[in-house]
Amino acid sequence: MTGKLISIEGIEGAGKSTVAARLTDRLRQSGHSVLELREPGSTPVGETLRTLLKDGTIRLAPLTEAFLFEAARHELVVRRIRPALTEGQWVVVDRFYDSTTAYQGWGRGLDVEMLCRMHRDACGETVPDLTLLLDIDTAVGLSRARSVTRGQGETARDRFEQEGIAFLERVREGFLSIARAEPNRIVVIPVTGDAEMVVECCLRAVEEKFSS
Ligand SMILES: Nc1ncnc2c1ncn2[C@@H]1O[C@H](COP(=O)(O)OP(=O)(O)OP(=O)(O)O)[C@@H](O)[C@H]1O
Ligand SMILES: [Mg+2]
Repeated sequence: MTGKLISIEGIEGAGKSTVAARLTDRLRQSGHSVLELREPGSTPVGETLRTLLKDGTIRLAPLTEAFLFEAARHELVVRRIRPALTEGQWVVVDRFYDSTTAYQGWGRGLDVEMLCRMHRDACGETVPDLTLLLDIDTAVGLSRARSVTRGQGETARDRFEQEGIAFLERVREGFLSIARAEPNRIVVIPVTGDAEMVVECCLRAVEEKFSS
């Protein structure tokens, strides 16, 4: 018995963490055993790297950034995701490797083919069964993200939030391009209504994917 891996992607403020929590609740209510994880994070090494990666006051070269995300990802895959899938659990992960392709590739300009090779090194055969891409207007997403971090101090405004609109426009376009290239894995969920509506759309996508 193997479980299902569902990743949730999108730019800052798209509603990933909100959807991850509510989707996990709903899947548990329908009888699944679900592990909710976040990336980078959800392991001791991953959470330490998360703190470093979020801190907008620490300068990192783009390739350093990519390696650190892949390192956190490898820890998550080997220590949490694979064991859970082997036990038949479902795994909902808030961001996964498409974020690195979109941010470090489309955002920072690193070679996308190189990044895909890095994902394969970090994840091996562990690829999402389904990816939900929450697609939000960049300005709306950024203002939602900023309303969350406002007042939490300088390090709370993370390095990607600080990049501003033009950077996030490229990242958003990157996500949409990845989705066009892998339509069987990735479902684009337009974020137009409230969180409950978005969660309902995600649940429909999950049902369509796994009902057969
Ligand atoms: N569909 C929605 N409509 C209105 N507000 C929303 C919606 N989804 C989430 N929010 C709110 O927007 C803010 C950002 O949501 P959330 O933290 O889930 O986004 P995120 O994608 O995880 O952001 P980040 O990339 O910064 O972690 C929160 O205050 C959340 O309550
Ligand atoms: Mg979040």
